[in-house]
Amino acid sequence: MSGKVRIAPSILSADLWRLGEEVADVERGGADWLHVDIMDGHYVPPITFGANVVAALRRHTPLPLDVHLMISEPERHIDAFVQAGADVITVHVESCVHLQNTLSGIRKAGKKAGVVMNPHTPESSLEYVLDEVDLVLVMSVNPGFGGQTFITSQLRKMERVASKVQQRGLTIDLEMDGGIYATNVKSVTDAGANVIVAGTAVFGQSNRAAAIQQLRDAVAG
Ligand code: DX5
Ligand code: ZN
Repeated sequence: MSGKVRIAPSILSADLWRLGEEVADVERGGADWLHVDIMDGHYVPPITFGANVVAALRRHTPLPLDVHLMISEPERHIDAFVQAGADVITVHVESCVHLQNTLSGIRKAGKKAGVVMNPHTPESSLEYVLDEVDLVLVMSVNPGFGGQTFITSQLRKMERVASKVQQRGLTIDLEMDGGIYATNVKSVTDAGANVIVAGTAVFGQSNRAAAIQQLRDAVAG
């Protein structure tokens, strides 16, 4: 595990009617990043937010915006999310025809580039892009929905990715997303993750500061 563990609440599970207040709530509650799930109804079944929502968030929160693109042909939309003020932009291995090109384009635009692996994606898919990314996101559920069950096999994958990163002497954030709660977050950080996405675990509780603290306490053991 490299450095401080960051908690990134996912607004997918927020009360969207009160989105501004929800974001302010987790900001006050000690969130480190804000995770924004962009879904297009094609790469994954639901449709969620677009770059306009990212731009609105950017105007109202100083939290780093971690924009998770679950969309087909993400290369067509990178510029819009860059302009909207995303800080981290992550793309799925399987959604990119020219993965290296898309990742380097994100970096050239001055943003942190992240590569996302689905539960079935082998870590070998990172071989030729690992040196050019700022973050690797290992999905611990299949993308598309909040509130799913954590797939434990992904812990082994995270360990393997973490050791590869260490072998190469790289400084890369390692993020895990899906089904993470205070009950299993320690296994996630023990496997090497330092960025924890939490949708239901944070927005599913009325006291968000307490929810975030529970995650931190669990990590501290
Ligand atoms: C799922 C999304 C997740 C989701 C996680 O496709 O990528 O970010 O919000 O939600 P929980 O934490 O409820 O599994
Ligand atoms: Zn996500």
